[in-house]
Amino acid sequence: MSIKAEEISALIKQQIESYESDIEVSDVGTVIEIGDGIARAHGLDNVMSGELVEFSNGVMGMAQNLEESNVGIVILGPYTEIREGDEVRRTGRIMEVPVGEELIGRVVNPLGQPVDGKGPVETAASRPLESPAPGVMDRKSVDEPLQTGIKAIDALVPIGRGQRELIIGDRQTGKTTVAIDTILNQKNEDMICIYVAIGQKDSTVRSTVEVLRRYGALDYTIVVSAGASDPAPLQYLAPYAGVSMGEEFMYNGKHVLVVYDDLTKQANAYRELSLLLRRPPGREAFPGDVFYLHSRLLERAAKLSDAKGGGSLTALPFVETQAGDISAYIPTNVISITDGQIFLQSDLFFSGVRPAINPGLSVSRVGGSAQVKAMKKVAGTLRLDLASFRELEAFAQFGSDLDKATQAKLNRGERTVEVLKQGLHKPLVVEKQVMIIYALTKGFLDEIPVVDITRFEEEFMTWLDNNKPELLASIRDTGALPDADEMNGAIESFKQTFVASE
Ligand SMILES: Nc1ncnc2c1ncn2[C@@H]1O[C@H](COP(=O)(O)OP(=O)(O)OP(=O)(O)O)[C@@H](O)[C@H]1O
Ligand SMILES: [Mg+2]
Repeated sequence: MSIKAEEISALIKQQIESYESDIEVSDVGTVIEIGDGIARAHGLDNVMSGELVEFSNGVMGMAQNLEESNVGIVILGPYTEIREGDEVRRTGRIMEVPVGEELIGRVVNPLGQPVDGKGPVETAASRPLESPAPGVMDRKSVDEPLQTGIKAIDALVPIGRGQRELIIGDRQTGKTTVAIDTILNQKNEDMICIYVAIGQKDSTVRSTVEVLRRYGALDYTIVVSAGASDPAPLQYLAPYAGVSMGEEFMYNGKHVLVVYDDLTKQANAYRELSLLLRRPPGREAFPGDVFYLHSRLLERAAKLSDAKGGGSLTALPFVETQAGDISAYIPTNVISITDGQIFLQSDLFFSGVRPAINPGLSVSRVGGSAQVKAMKKVAGTLRLDLASFRELEAFAQFGSDLDKATQAKLNRGERTVEVLKQGLHKPLVVEKQVMIIYALTKGFLDEIPVVDITRFEEEFMTWLDNNKPELLASIRDTGALPDADEMNGAIESFKQTFVASE
């Protein structure tokens, strides 16, 4: 057999051409210490901060502290099976969540896995948990209203699409209710809602989901839940998972509302894992970067410019205070990041003023420019009037002799408080809000007994539906306030039919 030189060289050439290195540079380390959901590993020299790593039993972790001789890893799952000496490998990926329409109507954990027992979620796309916020040039100022359907919010502290409005208050002051009612009111608003429940009892989350389902709100809502029994890393990641799911819609030109209920628990979870990672504790034992924890989250809320599709992501973060102390560490941090806050006060709540919004301490810094014109006109000075009524009321308790003007102010204030009360899960459309607030501010309610105000409002709304649908339609369609004669005429003719209870 003769050896042909050309044949051999052709073979070698072919080999060289199709040569592929199959030596995978997968850095592998060894667990040197494990406990409390934190592992330390030696040998992962090239690992990136925030990178996913995999333990030999398949449990995933996230590299957090990169030190000279070892890496601190947060374990995202059951850690009792992991032993000292186990292998841990890099994956080269950072944390991602599945995103897309398929998630709508589902309850998922912060990793995007369903927890509602309705089978797997088949999503086509995913997004990294941490991604940069839209830049300055990609944004536009807030110019469209987000109707919460809650009179006290839409009239006093209006929220615009793309805004970040903090909802703050003690425990059991109706915070979650504000979120749920706002979500319920988005029914025909072409808005996708994401409710992120952090550190809540599973039973509470369940009843929230039940309410959403009952009112048909689950058709446009995703619930992301990291319960009280979930490990701290999941609670820490939950808000980022929520906002990443929202961004997918925002960048596709849609409008999104994300509710974080609540960030206090997220900060606590982050404190727990930071302390276990032996990061130095600062004020209230929170780590030094707890501000960044919330600022990088809330900066991802935006109203995009028209060139970027004009989508928006509105954020409603919640913070729980202790005994109404809004000057504690986390509350002041989040207040300084957001575009305003709604302060819910427990003594108002217990005296029956619900939603228990404190008009003096609540503010919305950008929503006013997005408010429906008619509402802006009728509710212009309502918040300040109400705040001054509260002061006057406290003062008036001392003296009995009041001058006429003060008496009239108190009289109006009492009725304002009544009008702004609103029951559970009863969002009101903006045109009806405008009508009742118009009636209030023009003095039509002044001679109605305070006890009758709620009934007056209810009957007035029904009367309007039956007798003046065109008036409501004109406010809804144009956003402008109709002619004063027309408004006054309608209110006067309804008042003829209204029977006071005494
Ligand atoms: N506008 C309202 N009218 C009547 N009841 C209300 C209203 N808002 C809230 N409630 C009731 O008050 C209770 C507490 O409300 P909610 O759970 O919203 O408060 P929270 O501040 O979220 O509480 P937590 O601190 O436990 O999370 C609930 O039972 C709710 O039904
Ligand atoms: Mg709550």
